[in-house]
Amino acid sequence: MAAILTARNISKCFAAPGASVVRALSGVNADIQEGRVVCFRGRSGSGKTTLINILGALDTPTEGTVTFGGEDITAFSEAKRDRLRRYEMAFVFQSVALIGSMTAFENVELAMRLAGVPAAQRAKRVSECLARVGLERRSGHRPAELSGGEQQRVAIARAICHKPKVIFADEPTAELDTVTGLAVMKLFRDLAEEGGHTIVMTTHDEAMMESADVTYTLEDGEITSTGG
Ligand SMILES: Nc1ncnc2c1ncn2[C@@H]1O[C@H](COP(=O)(O)OP(=O)(O)OP(=O)(O)O)[C@@H](O)[C@H]1O
Ligand SMILES: [Mg+2]
Repeated sequence: MAAILTARNISKCFAAPGASVVRALSGVNADIQEGRVVCFRGRSGSGKTTLINILGALDTPTEGTVTFGGEDITAFSEAKRDRLRRYEMAFVFQSVALIGSMTAFENVELAMRLAGVPAAQRAKRVSECLARVGLERRSGHRPAELSGGEQQRVAIARAICHKPKVIFADEPTAELDTVTGLAVMKLFRDLAEEGGHTIVMTTHDEAMMESADVTYTLEDGEITSTGG
């Protein structure tokens, strides 16, 4: 099967204070197949966030190319990258960043409005997405009235509402206990297997990697092993 997302010889340098340069990634290659859960693991500072940001078109590499659906997205204009992120991709972060004054339903609905889903379709789709993450009975709750794992599930409902091809998740389980983190991983597995979504995530938690199809290990900005 063809890869939906590929990284070819990706390097990233950041300008650091003074004249120095931080080389966050060097020569990274990866082939991400559609419908898989792919995990990048590594210590703090190994380059996980830098890489996932480049794969998700939030940042550009210093060298190398990223292709999405066969197209070189590193050559895209800012506007085209913006559209790609908005319509084909979704992002889930470590800290959940729901809007505190809005209910779970309203948080998901807002994302759908921003993604241009017509008003007439929204309510049904919000309910479907909340049901998908097992929160149909919490739709009227505000974030403060939800557990950490439930908040992350609302964030995932928000991420899947516009049917993205790829969901990028940077340390999505880092603030959760192991049991809750594993429940989030199970949800990612189901989204990959039943929904055809591709999940690209980072973690430093060994327990979470069991749920991944492929695990890449990053050390000092290089991929040192691939398993799965
Ligand atoms: N904007 C930046 N400017 C300069 N250096 C940066 C910048 N962003 C990241 N770095 C450096 O690049 C390296 C990789 O950082 P990155 O955030 O990708 O690591 P990480 O694996 O996600 O770590 P963590 O597990 O702590 O989130 C680190 O040495 C970091 O200090
Ligand atoms: Mg990080």
